[in-house]
Amino acid sequence: MGLSEDVARISVITALPEAVRDFLGASVLGRGIASGKLEVSVVDIRDFSRGAYRQIDDYSFGGGGMVLMPGPLESALESVAGRDERCVVYPTPQGVPLHQEMVEDLYRASVAKRLAIVCGHYEGVDERFVERNVDVEFSIGDFVLTGGELPAIALIDAISRLVKGVVGKERAVEEDSFFSGMLDCPHYTRPSDFKGSSVPEALLGGDHAAIESFRKEEAVRRTISRRPDMIARAGIMPYLRKGAYVLLLHHPVLDKNGMKSTTAITGMDVHDISRACRTYGVKKYFVVTPLAPQREMVKKIASHWITGYGAAFNPDRKEAMGLVKTCPSLEGALGWIEEREKASPFTIATTARHGAGGAHWSGVKRRLLEMSRPAVFIFGTGSGLHEEVLSRSSVVMSPVSGGKGDYNHLSVRSAVSVVLDRFFGFR
Ligand code: ADE
Repeated sequence: MGLSEDVARISVITALPEAVRDFLGASVLGRGIASGKLEVSVVDIRDFSRGAYRQIDDYSFGGGGMVLMPGPLESALESVAGRDERCVVYPTPQGVPLHQEMVEDLYRASVAKRLAIVCGHYEGVDERFVERNVDVEFSIGDFVLTGGELPAIALIDAISRLVKGVVGKERAVEEDSFFSGMLDCPHYTRPSDFKGSSVPEALLGGDHAAIESFRKEEAVRRTISRRPDMIARAGIMPYLRKGAYVLLLHHPVLDKNGMKSTTAITGMDVHDISRACRTYGVKKYFVVTPLAPQREMVKKIASHWITGYGAAFNPDRKEAMGLVKTCPSLEGALGWIEEREKASPFTIATTARHGAGGAHWSGVKRRLLEMSRPAVFIFGTGSGLHEEVLSRSSVVMSPVSGGKGDYNHLSVRSAVSVVLDRFFGFR
């Protein structure tokens, strides 16, 4: 998500208002608040308690420690905003782990409504309050704090970074961990030699391309070694050293009876797959068929959109169609890619057949990040790629599956989109 000019409105409901106020005033958050783009109010639960002792908690039924009573909490919440005007979050170790996408969702909620953060204390809060009022329970880690104030401040801090002008250098925010689904690269400042330990050479030369690739490689290395789980969700196109290609094969493929055959071009594949390729940043989309008239047909469709009437009618389609390239054979297409990239292609054969073994896509994704070879995704038409293609590929990838038994009949257009999204989609 980019940085926003909107105003984020947040209320913290707490039994420790001074602690929260102190922190808000002292940190970078203070800048956001001063700019008017971040509005934070702090509500003291005790102001809504009854009786001389301003009681807000009581013993847990069944034994245990102190629990915040539902009455004062609900009155405090109602003082902040009506039911339809608020989104209520409750930090608790029992909540879902907080992550960047959730922060972005809560930021949007704070703009559309008011975000109310209810801080628990002691053993927690009465469950009936949670059931009646709380929209999201979140945790900041598998450990137990004495209260929800620190998690509340952590959330406000993460939200404030999405507001334009809060963090000095906006580029730095966009490059930070999690913005592209990878961990951040390491950073260095003067002196270039610190007690015998020097700054990596690539950062000192002023060569921007070298700096950029050093940073990307370090981000990948760190993510793979520290948080391999993040790779499955990351859009990896910016981190591939050689980019990606899609090949749609019409020969050699299987017919319904499992015999080697050649299929006819489907016009819609030319349109839809080129658009998917353009969307995800694929460098070229090869339509492979040994039949010259079929290749001519593809060129005719593409030229209608590139130079013909279609170019003026729909310029977006022109961009997509510009990626289409015909080729008589798989070898020819791979040779073209190798020549252009000066590296041998890493071929990923796809199949719809279960039981043929195959590598899980998340492992393939990780391997692509570790190599300096172009990624070539090969899709078959008809009843799938012939064995001679599967056996010569660098890897066969296990099928895209809906988990519904034997029925696995996605159109090749759909399969291409699903695969491209798994590898290159941003989440
Ligand atoms: N309250 C106490 N511990 C917490 C944690 N780990 N995350 C969120 N809220 C909490």
